[in-house]
Amino acid sequence: MANNLLQGKKGIIFGALNEQSIAWKVAKQCYEEGAQIVLSNAPVALRMGEINNLAVACGNAPVIGADVTNMDDLKNLFEKTLEHFGGGIDFILHSVGMSVNVRKGLDYYDINYQNNQKTFDISSISLHKILKTAWDLDALNEWGSVVALTYIAAQRVFPDYNEMADAKALLESITRNFGYYYGNKKKVRINTVSQSPVKTTAGGGVKGFDGFMEYAAKMSPLGNATSDACANYVVSLFSDLSKFVTMQNLFHDGGFSFTGVTPEVIQSMYPPEK
Ligand SMILES: NC(=O)c1ccc[n+]([C@@H]2O[C@H](COP(=O)([O-])OP(=O)(O)OC[C@H]3O[C@@H](n4cnc5c(N)ncnc54)[C@H](O)[C@@H]3O)[C@@H](O)[C@H]2O)c1
Repeated sequence: MANNLLQGKKGIIFGALNEQSIAWKVAKQCYEEGAQIVLSNAPVALRMGEINNLAVACGNAPVIGADVTNMDDLKNLFEKTLEHFGGGIDFILHSVGMSVNVRKGLDYYDINYQNNQKTFDISSISLHKILKTAWDLDALNEWGSVVALTYIAAQRVFPDYNEMADAKALLESITRNFGYYYGNKKKVRINTVSQSPVKTTAGGGVKGFDGFMEYAAKMSPLGNATSDACANYVVSLFSDLSKFVTMQNLFHDGGFSFTGVTPEVIQSMYPPEK
């Protein structure tokens, strides 16, 4: 149900690849809540074309390609966005991640370091690059809000999450540090949302993903949070209802992060005797 929570606000959504993407759901909900948006993804992802359907569903939102590791691309994206909006930006969603070593099937203890650099550049340092671009162009309005998506493997070990665990830890650290400077400079708030597993192109790339999703659901008193629920939460963080929340890693996971064990998990190993 739309409540006009983002009426008059303008933002950039990074990372909508297809209907399963978390960014796709966020973009739609932002639009339904009254925001104007610009969509961005890597040029190679745009060639798949699906994002154009989302653009239409979001009031013919412009789609501007940018590889998040490339500062020239980011500058072009921000300049065009400022021109399109005729002024500053109120929110940014960073919903970008890719592990080269996972794609190549290399184990954590056997990664290739060139791949690893690329993984960090795409999945973590890109947030720094986006924020620096916005900072240099003074593109974000006062009380603007930036959200990046992360996963609890930054705090606890989930073996097949591989180098992405380190990438998420770095992403969360950049969030805290840039959050400090941008808060001081312009009251811009920056947070990460640590989301339950959802089957997407990126998520599904993790080995044993289906079994893991089931385990997470059994370990969460509220069950796994869906991507629609995630979009709701992100909208609340872009809205004026959360103005003093910054530099936080916010768990949106149905209680998974603070649950030690549940009867469902025990019973899956030791079914009750009949
Ligand atoms: N799916 C899950 O279970 C889950 C859980 C927690 C957090 N997350 C995080 O949510 C975010 C979005 O992932 P998703 O699950 O929606 O999958 P997704 O595959 O739909 O989204 C990942 C996006 O990153 C984009 N991308 C990759 N390289 C890029 C580059 N160089 N430049 C610009 N964009 C690039 C892809 O094109 C894609 O749109 C990621 O940060 C992911 O780690 C996902």
